[in-house]
Amino acid sequence: MAIEIRTDIAYQQCMNAACGARLGIEETVFECPQCGDLLDVQYDWSRAALPKRLKDFEAKWAHPDDPLAFSGVWRFHELIPFAAREHIITLGEGRTILQRADRVAPYVDLPAGRLFLQYEGLNPSGSFKDNGMTAAFTHAHLVGASRAACASTGNTSASVALFSAVDGRIPAVVLVGSGKIAYGKLAQALDYGVRVLQVQGDFDVCMKRVKEVARELKIYLMNSVNPFRLEGQKTIMYRILEGLAWEVPDWVVVPGGNLGNSSAFGKAFKELAETGLIPRLPRIAVINATGADTLYRIVNQERITWNGGRVDDNRIAAFYKQMDAENRRAKTIASAIEINRPVNLKKCLRAIEWTGGIVEKVTDQEILDAKARVGAGGFGCEPASAASVAGVRKLRAAGVIGPKDRVVCVLTGHALKDPHATVAYHTMTDAQLAGEYGAYGVRAAAHANRPMVVADDLDKIVAAIQS
Ligand code: F0G
Repeated sequence: MAIEIRTDIAYQQCMNAACGARLGIEETVFECPQCGDLLDVQYDWSRAALPKRLKDFEAKWAHPDDPLAFSGVWRFHELIPFAAREHIITLGEGRTILQRADRVAPYVDLPAGRLFLQYEGLNPSGSFKDNGMTAAFTHAHLVGASRAACASTGNTSASVALFSAVDGRIPAVVLVGSGKIAYGKLAQALDYGVRVLQVQGDFDVCMKRVKEVARELKIYLMNSVNPFRLEGQKTIMYRILEGLAWEVPDWVVVPGGNLGNSSAFGKAFKELAETGLIPRLPRIAVINATGADTLYRIVNQERITWNGGRVDDNRIAAFYKQMDAENRRAKTIASAIEINRPVNLKKCLRAIEWTGGIVEKVTDQEILDAKARVGAGGFGCEPASAASVAGVRKLRAAGVIGPKDRVVCVLTGHALKDPHATVAYHTMTDAQLAGEYGAYGVRAAAHANRPMVVADDLDKIVAAIQS
């Protein structure tokens, strides 16, 4: 498919319908200079060179020697046309798989052939973040950025560190909450040689500080308030469609943290529908951990909606003020989504409106149990990712997801990101587990695969194997 990419059709626009300010793509303020709201990357699709059908993208599989055809992100360059080829920084990210998960399906009460798992942990840095980071680093390169920064619960920092190290032109600093990120992720940031700041506080504190730092030192911001990152994350949805022979599933289920994914997924489907490349949108279900349920409460209790672009900002502000008054902090074993103030809240509300989406929440016990079932079905994932599967189980039980629905869960991060949670679940007695994770409401490991302790004795080893 030799379509010429036009990048002069891209611009940034304030998402607030009452403002709608436009900016060029070379701007790096990442909030509307007029009203402070989030920005989108937009395209004049009428001037775009789009394929007639999504199936035409398959032609790129025939060109593995072209890094842009090899990448699972840039293979869809026509659908994220903000940068010309020479600016693109790619590591071969996004070559992930949609796996029909018949061995996990019974756990969520779906029949064979109805549950699919999108393993984004199979990315170069082990999480979905690489989809966004290739796009953000590309934009950083395009605007001539000399330094990059992010706040992170771990995976963003690992991905930023990896791209920074491989590319070598944009040194990075990452802010993580001290003691708040899983060891696999911290290990990556340290090993890739970026500057790691362990801030005495949680993710929400780091996020606030990194924005200040980016402004003060003019450092390029790699968090998902950066709309270019979300452009890359749209491609996860294109690959899901590809895995389903370009058919639209009924549900896409995703854990909700800073809400970049859900925002990007909604935008991806909306654009495909508007350009006539898909006939309908799937419903998006965003799953919070009960200990970090800001979105759940805003949608299901406060009933605040996107409202066609006129979100009631005062009510959100009042909600956050109340949260501060109660000194509410996020707390969940799924540390990746231990976030109180999701920066993409309003974009997520928009995605929910566009897709007929819903929000559910699951306990840490449900998350760890689901994680064990996903692992036993192959590949595995980190705790936050398993929230999606736990969410499907709950939504099936409530009859919200029907028995014939085709459901895709996005498994956002690799099992090895957080070995502690996995080993604790499988090896500890219930009493030990309650001691370790009791404060998170975890009491038992119903799906534990307990290692057997056995003496150095052939008969005993044989007996253990045969038992
Ligand atoms: N799953 C994993 C494994 C994550 O690392 C994150 C976010 C999410 C889900 C939530 O995704 O923000 O798009 O709703 N991790 C960020 C980080 C916050 O810093 O690594 P979201």
